[in-house]
Amino acid sequence: MATILAVETSCDDTACAIVANGRRVLSNVVANQNTLHQATGGVVPEVAARQHLQVVQPVIQQAMADAGLTWDDIDGVAATLGPGLIGSLLIGVNAAKSLSWLHNKPFIPVHHLVGHVCANFIDSDLRPPFGCLLVSGGHTQLMVVNDDFTVNVLGHTLDDAVGEAYDKVGRVLGLGFPGGPAVDKQAATGNPERFPLPVANIRQPNNAYGFSYSGLKTAVARQWQKVTSPTDHDVADMCASFQRAAIAPLVKQTLAAAKAHQLATVAVCGGVSANRGLRHALTTACDEANIALFLPPISVCTDNAAMIASAGYFSPLPVTGVPLAMEVFSRGGWPAA
Ligand code: KG4
Ligand code: ZN
Repeated sequence: MATILAVETSCDDTACAIVANGRRVLSNVVANQNTLHQATGGVVPEVAARQHLQVVQPVIQQAMADAGLTWDDIDGVAATLGPGLIGSLLIGVNAAKSLSWLHNKPFIPVHHLVGHVCANFIDSDLRPPFGCLLVSGGHTQLMVVNDDFTVNVLGHTLDDAVGEAYDKVGRVLGLGFPGGPAVDKQAATGNPERFPLPVANIRQPNNAYGFSYSGLKTAVARQWQKVTSPTDHDVADMCASFQRAAIAPLVKQTLAAAKAHQLATVAVCGGVSANRGLRHALTTACDEANIALFLPPISVCTDNAAMIASAGYFSPLPVTGVPLAMEVFSRGGWPAA
């Protein structure tokens, strides 16, 4: 039994969670900065870091109170070491390190992307090996997670991440920040046939299951310029058309990779894994292909600390010589659930 308290401050969410054995959430507190960043339509790093500093302590106290635990019950303190905004990361890492020193608990560094992958272990019985589609605001990649938790990246985006494209489209359509959830909501009522948009499936020697989103993002902006006096209908139709073009390669490449690599199980993670269109399309495609699909609970799709606590249990980074690239990350052994 290991109960881990984790802190996550890699971008614009200040989060603290306590998780038992990497799967059972005892508390999960997220203070997002969405309102703060509405004015600029995106995250300003210095503003994000200052806000983390203001709220990190109360967020940690809230996580302890929600779980009803004392420090005697905590076995380790994890924190996201990277990748992320350096000013933001520093706040969470220093808060976690101070607590680990003060309460004499081991400090457990975690890779943010491994954290996203581990969101799939929350409330589930998933075990490697499995294929994993990671779709966030900063990354879009398809990988195989091996049973010793080493990772092979099969494909990645050549340019923008899919979440970044959602946010840009949201901004162009005047839907505020972050754009992803708003575009998702609008897409549900729109006509996906209305605007013809390019779908990119990248197949290159070293990027066999790759993606590209900058062309799609630009095509939306160009076509939107031609819509004079846009109505709510136009907004919904553009969201539905964009969402269809954004999701199609994610589903196609995931299924093609699963088939080629004989993966019986596929998981999805990152903020865009909350997208209803993507969850529905993958569920249908995996059902048809007889592939077991794991989708994280909505509460742990976007940045949160429960996934970091899970990664701290299943797959922490080495304490020294920390590699920050997913490709070079490896760890031996897989603890029993
Ligand atoms: O994983 P995450 O919280 O942060 C990063 O590590 O990047 O992902 C944030 C991204 C944002 O781009 C946001 O717009 C997108 O996830 N997102 C969504 C949805 N919810 C969040 N995109 C599409 N549909 C959603 N429902
Ligand atoms: Zn993230």
